[in-house]
Amino acid sequence: MQDGTDGIDMSLRLREATENDLDTLVRMRVSLQKHLEARDPNIWKFSRRGFEIAPLEVKARLRSKNSFMGVAEDENGRILGMIMAEAAQDEYRDPERFGHIHWVYVEEERRRESLGRSLVKMALNFFSRRGIEQITIGYVVNNPEAHAFWDKLGFVARVTHSSATMSALVNKLSAPKIL
Ligand SMILES: CC(C)(COP(=O)(O)OP(=O)(O)OC[C@H]1O[C@@H](n2cnc3c(N)ncnc32)[C@H](O)[C@@H]1OP(=O)(O)O)[C@@H](O)C(=O)NCCC(=O)NCCS
Repeated sequence: MQDGTDGIDMSLRLREATENDLDTLVRMRVSLQKHLEARDPNIWKFSRRGFEIAPLEVKARLRSKNSFMGVAEDENGRILGMIMAEAAQDEYRDPERFGHIHWVYVEEERRRESLGRSLVKMALNFFSRRGIEQITIGYVVNNPEAHAFWDKLGFVARVTHSSATMSALVNKLSAPKIL
């Protein structure tokens, strides 16, 4: 059911996440990581320990006053997507208050229904309560839906994180310089 104004499903409920949602949040956080690793196997990956501590990581975010976790659920209380955002402050930066959206995940079969957009809107409320002026996000280059999603919301790529293996770098630096 659409509301006819913003394309948002009216049976959708958006709310702050709680520890009662822990299992679903952890499952989504792990699915997000697996999704990114599948998009580019050369990004940093979760170690076995990384997967093991995911519940602690999510719990810490739920308890942190500087983090916000929100969920979108259907009329039966089934969680369809989640977001995790963080508010930060650094007096040596201008603007001093900034936000970062770390995780956004929507169940695969419910994508392209504006759930991602709605989750970002919720994080925006959190950011505006904190007086945030600038928001950053990061996404895997080889993740086209993330690129399309953030691009549509007006995010512009300004910094690129690149990686090379030590052995590739050693090879490059030891190769004779061509004049
Ligand atoms: C990225 C993600 C969160 C988007 O969620 P979503 O609910 O599908 O996004 P929305 O429906 O709110 O899309 C908003 C707009 O973004 C763009 N967009 C989103 N997904 C897109 C896709 N696969 N291809 C092209 N454009 C897309 C569209 O412009 C869309 O508006 P439209 O449907 O009216 O054309 C979702 O695809 C997802 O969970 N992906 C896996 C996890 C992931 O990659 N997360 C991002 C990590 S940074």
